[in-house]
Amino acid sequence: MFESFNIPADKICRDFLHYMEAGSMADLIDSLPSDRDLSDDEWRFLIEGDYDKQRLFDKADKVRRQYYGTDVYIRGLIEISSFCKNDCLYCGIRRSNKNASRYRLSEEEIFSCCEQGYELGFRTFVLQGGEDPFHTTAWVEKVVSTIKERYPDCAVTLSLGERDRRDYEIWHQAGADRYLLRHETASCVHYEKLHPHEQTFAHRMECLHNLKQAGYQTGCGFMVGSPFQETGDLIADMRFLREFRPHMVGIGPFIPHHDTPFAACPGGSLARTLTMVALVRLTLPTALIPATTALATIHPQGRELGLKAGANVVMPNLSPAAVRKQYSLYDNKICTGEEAAESVDYLSRQVMAAGYQVVVDRGDPAKTGCATSDGQLNKK
Ligand code: 5AD
Repeated sequence: MFESFNIPADKICRDFLHYMEAGSMADLIDSLPSDRDLSDDEWRFLIEGDYDKQRLFDKADKVRRQYYGTDVYIRGLIEISSFCKNDCLYCGIRRSNKNASRYRLSEEEIFSCCEQGYELGFRTFVLQGGEDPFHTTAWVEKVVSTIKERYPDCAVTLSLGERDRRDYEIWHQAGADRYLLRHETASCVHYEKLHPHEQTFAHRMECLHNLKQAGYQTGCGFMVGSPFQETGDLIADMRFLREFRPHMVGIGPFIPHHDTPFAACPGGSLARTLTMVALVRLTLPTALIPATTALATIHPQGRELGLKAGANVVMPNLSPAAVRKQYSLYDNKICTGEEAAESVDYLSRQVMAAGYQVVVDRGDPAKTGCATSDGQLNKK
């Protein structure tokens, strides 16, 4: 929009920005989704500006309805191991955390989670875990192919961290449909502040590209309010998403864990997280965006608010109740009550109260707009 005033984006003075904030900045929201990249100042305003965020959330909700109607997809999350060879500074299951109690599910335990989940209406199983060397290429291949044999109508999502390209290919051939690997932050400098030397930004990016190339529906994502994060880093996240075009984007607030170096850091805010959810929906209209457990952990209505800001997926925990507390990425992670997959009924009612409906479906990305109540096909 600044182009129309013939002022280079980097020369916009504060006063001009204030003028824009008062009036035309509102138009910026109406102009989204936009085919062009926004300027730094426009992104900055959308992320941290003092404007009516409800307008942003409503626009994001309108766009999600054009592609997904009121459908909410559910994924059965199975946390298969809390062993991890990595040492991410923010994460409670980092290898240096000697206080973490570790567990690993057996194949049979995983299959029984799937069996229970299928009965409950789940048609996607997400196998998530720390980077556990016990999970060899062949072991995961066998688990994936067994699940796909038993439940051919279900999608399998893997979230097992950084692996060789060959592993990704073999698991995809075994039937894995999707892979989640958050990029955590799209700024290399910021990435290095969140991870030890041996975990490089370049390798994370390489893995994401390998996943896409191997044919997965690929998910990335980031934490909001992680230590050292600046607005410029979130702008980098938005630009990375625009370019990488993932099928799924996980966004949750950073929540400190008491046994990590970031124990005393403040957590990410609800408002900023919802803003980022909405901006991602407007940037990638067909993306699958979960209302994350972290969001539900920091606010009792976090999940519903996430859905109303553009999210369209929820991932209840299907792991055996006995191990749920041990998969402790951050403090106070919800892992009982309505979070438990057994309470799908309760979850469905919650989702319905927010104006949406849980559906029994694999929940693949939308290819076109969906029919509105008057039978018109919505596109963009
Ligand atoms: N707060 C919020 N999210 C976290 N994750 C790990 N630790 C934390 C934390 N302290 C997220 C990371 C990781 C995903 C599995 O969980 O983004 O990719």
